[in-house]
Amino acid sequence: MPISISTVHLINRLDDLRRWVTDQKLAGRTIGVVPTMGALHEGHLSLVRASLEKADATVVTIFVNPTQFAAGEDLEKYPQTLASDLAQLASAGPVVVFAPTVADMYPAQFSTMIFPPTIAKTLEGEKRPTHFAGVATVVLKLLNLTSADFAFFGQKDFQQQLVVAQMVKDLNVPTEIVMCPIARAADGLALSSRNAYLTAAERQIALSLNQTLVAVENQICQGQRDSYELIVEMRQLLIDAGVTSIEYAAIADPLTLETPEQVRLPVVALVAAYVGRTRLIDNCVIAEN
Ligand code: PAJ
Repeated sequence: MPISISTVHLINRLDDLRRWVTDQKLAGRTIGVVPTMGALHEGHLSLVRASLEKADATVVTIFVNPTQFAAGEDLEKYPQTLASDLAQLASAGPVVVFAPTVADMYPAQFSTMIFPPTIAKTLEGEKRPTHFAGVATVVLKLLNLTSADFAFFGQKDFQQQLVVAQMVKDLNVPTEIVMCPIARAADGLALSSRNAYLTAAERQIALSLNQTLVAVENQICQGQRDSYELIVEMRQLLIDAGVTSIEYAAIADPLTLETPEQVRLPVVALVAAYVGRTRLIDNCVIAEN
């Protein structure tokens, strides 16, 4: 089948999006939203395909959200690749792309922020204290703007998806949150827009995040139940591989993110580490099989 870019309809303005949403609702169509910051890869596209399957109409949002970046993080250098994003979406299927400006999303008087749920305090929240307030705020705005029936998030950002699900529940937002599995490169590296920052040598070192998670999974399958010992081993594997610094290596309950002394399944293993100047995250849910 020929690839056609006519299936992608780009909307920049908020009121144009509202009009499109109203038309969908009047036609009785369900709406799926896939929030992204662009620099799309196969991981994002897997969410888009999940939405195309589940919802009647799909809107992919592309917005590098300044409120979730702290000073000194990579907001300014975050990859912006709209033309390639649109081309990739065109081959995925018929979608609307909503790519607003910062000025439209955060006009001069903007001052309301979501105070994120308790689950946001640990792990990523500990290292990036203002991050989830920014994520929760922009996601709620996007859910409101799109009146989405379904919103698709990747397991790649495991804690983000928990934060969003709790916020939606707490604030009675009528959107079903759907979690999609982590898309990986053939060598196991979790796909991420930030992989673009890695040199070839760094990319090799970055493989150790997934390799560490696989090792932990094997240990647990072989009967290791001591979280402390597992965490020590995770840290050692990452250090031995040459990561620049470890932000966290954790074993946690997949619902509460609390670390149990003794592992009971299902459990999630999570890592965040700098490889060179690039901050990478990965995780793996280990369940009874
Ligand atoms: P971004 O990093 O662009 O990711 C958008 C969505 O794609 C998130 O739900 C993320 O978990 C998912 N994703 C990223 N890499 C993936 C992979 N390898 N496999 C499966 N899914 C993957 O996350 C954000 O943007 C922002 O915080 C956002 C939610 C858009 C709010 O600004």
